[in-house]
Amino acid sequence: MVITTVTPVAGRVRLRIRDYVTLDRPGGYLKIRPEGSNTLLYVLALEGGGYSVVSPVCKHLGCTVDVQGRRLLCPCHGSMYGRDGRVLRGPTQAPLDRFPAEVSSDGVITIDLERNLS
Ligand code: FES
Repeated sequence: MVITTVTPVAGRVRLRIRDYVTLDRPGGYLKIRPEGSNTLLYVLALEGGGYSVVSPVCKHLGCTVDVQGRRLLCPCHGSMYGRDGRVLRGPTQAPLDRFPAEVSSDGVITIDLERNLS
């Protein structure tokens, strides 16, 4: 999947959902890289509505997790996470780094890059 470069303003990224077809459907997600950063983030549509934003860096030994439907799977040693970053299966012991994502009534997701929730 393509990585979309985004431009943060005052530590926040704003994504208009309708501009990204992969976000605007159940099970959809987007890979973003904030400009000026090496950090990759996944923006994932949640089943019950809303979005989560997680770092794909596995908390076991640092491999990059892949999105596999409703789960995020680490190809290195098999750790599994939910779309919200929680641990579903080890060997990892810790959830993925997560960042707040709020959706406004006009369909814009605002991601706060300065508040790691984990
Ligand atoms: S680095 Fe992900 S399971 Fe080991």
